[in-house]
Amino acid sequence: MSQRKTIVAPSILACDFSRLGAEVERVSAAGADWIHCDVMDGHFVDNISFGPAFVEAVSRHTSLPLDVHLMIQRPDEYIPRFLPFASSITSHLEADHDVSKTLAGIRAAGLLAGLAISPATPVEDVRPLLGQFDILLVMTVVPGFGGQAFLPAMLDKIRLAATWRDAEGLDFEIEVDGGINAATAANSVSAGANLLVAGTSIFRAADVAGEIARLREF
Ligand code: DX5
Ligand code: ZN
Repeated sequence: MSQRKTIVAPSILACDFSRLGAEVERVSAAGADWIHCDVMDGHFVDNISFGPAFVEAVSRHTSLPLDVHLMIQRPDEYIPRFLPFASSITSHLEADHDVSKTLAGIRAAGLLAGLAISPATPVEDVRPLLGQFDILLVMTVVPGFGGQAFLPAMLDKIRLAATWRDAEGLDFEIEVDGGINAATAANSVSAGANLLVAGTSIFRAADVAGEIARLREF
């Protein structure tokens, strides 16, 4: 299996929103590679988080790439509003959109295009779209809330996607999101993931830099 650089992306959903700037600066200084921004609309998932103005505020406190994860029903309507601040935008296969068109539009704007699948969606469903995305996000919890437990059954999806990537000589990151800590990161990376999103484990850590470094070791 190809050896890829492990990327650690703290999810700001788990930060103290009342101190947003300081929190973004804290994880940036502690060695984060990317900052993960979870956008939720109250329709696609049963939670409302934040929108483009918040992501713009994040961008003013870091020079790190912003990885925008859209858990929204109609991604196409809102993607243009995130383009100025994001370096990657990921939408869900289960949302209402022409997925190929969405991915192509994000790439045409010069960003990395991501495709996410929720736990109930088989990874086989993304196979016809191989080559059209730069990031495959395998959700390791049901999207909507931080602080949930990692679903080990998702590891098989990662293994299969990594097999396709290697067999077909493709180049995309495999991202995991939900319940990532040192133990679940190790299992995810051995399965083939290399882009690790972690909210609770990073923002609640006594030693944030140590936690980020520990995740990156895998
Ligand atoms: C869940 C979000 C995640 C979440 C991860 O819907 O997509 O990014 O913030 O949080 P933890 O790491 O606490 O599971
Ligand atoms: Zn996320």
